[in-house]
Amino acid sequence: MSKNPTVLVTRKLPPAVEGRLTRDYEPHLNAQDRLYSTEELIALAKDAQALFATHTEHLSADVMAQLSGTIKVIANFSVGVDHCDLAAAKKHGIIVTNTPDVLADATAELTMLLILGAARRASEGERLIRARKWDTWSPMFMLGTQVTGKRLGIIGLGRIGQVVAQRARGFGMEIHYHNRSRLDAAREAGALYHDTLDSLLPQSEFLALHCPNTPDTQNLFNAERIAQLPDGAIVVNSARGNIVDEDALIAALRSGKIRAAGLDVYKDEPYIRREFAELDNTFLLPHLGSATHETRDAMGFRALDNLDAVFAGQEPKDRVA
Ligand code: DGY
Repeated sequence: MSKNPTVLVTRKLPPAVEGRLTRDYEPHLNAQDRLYSTEELIALAKDAQALFATHTEHLSADVMAQLSGTIKVIANFSVGVDHCDLAAAKKHGIIVTNTPDVLADATAELTMLLILGAARRASEGERLIRARKWDTWSPMFMLGTQVTGKRLGIIGLGRIGQVVAQRARGFGMEIHYHNRSRLDAAREAGALYHDTLDSLLPQSEFLALHCPNTPDTQNLFNAERIAQLPDGAIVVNSARGNIVDEDALIAALRSGKIRAAGLDVYKDEPYIRREFAELDNTFLLPHLGSATHETRDAMGFRALDNLDAVFAGQEPKDRVA
């Protein structure tokens, strides 16, 4: 009987996912969940036909070239693929897949948490209590901003953006969006389309970033865009840190142009700008968008379905290169 394909699994995964990997493949698991250096990754990949990767691996053109001797497929455990040089993968004939759809609910839930946390000063309140400094209640104590009835601008009404819109409607928000192209009426579900950011931003009392990190969107949210927002707007980002010019955001949070920001992602994760942690008007989480038990299992199974397809000689459902 021929041996099952060997899969280099870069990070520790949920038990059910590792169970299926062990049942169907020869996995090289990472029980300690150690972050491999690029050199280690390349050395370990010499014995593997597949890589089960996450966004914590930086699969540059150079790395792709070195993987190409043995690796046939990179099944990503992520929807974002900005950590992979897709053009290089294509050039070397490496198939790359991702995990769309399955993390939309979890990420949208977290986006609502960012919206509510930033609007209602949740981080500040939490810190006050934990520091045992809360000493009285008064009508003017820690007033935040209500989300009900406000306009939410969404940049990128893809799968996650659409679920955010649906959840935000439940909070009585009016949805506006910008996309490269307008969606059909069913997917718009009443959201108002703006064909430019110049048109969307002045309407966005709240703004949620949901576009992918590509060369076109890097630093998209910069000082010029911030100036177009209404004064005191609230901004949340659960997409990728690279979309934001962090210097510009910090300056706007300091001046009050932006009342508050809810952030789950940062340019140089896990390093976070000291200013974000020092400002009172930030609500910060450590890249937890899809971090639920249900979604982690679903991401793993989706990545495995893609892997199974490749080794069965079929086209994987979520091929991106
Ligand atoms: C994704 O799937 O892109 C999440 O950010 C986790 O990597």
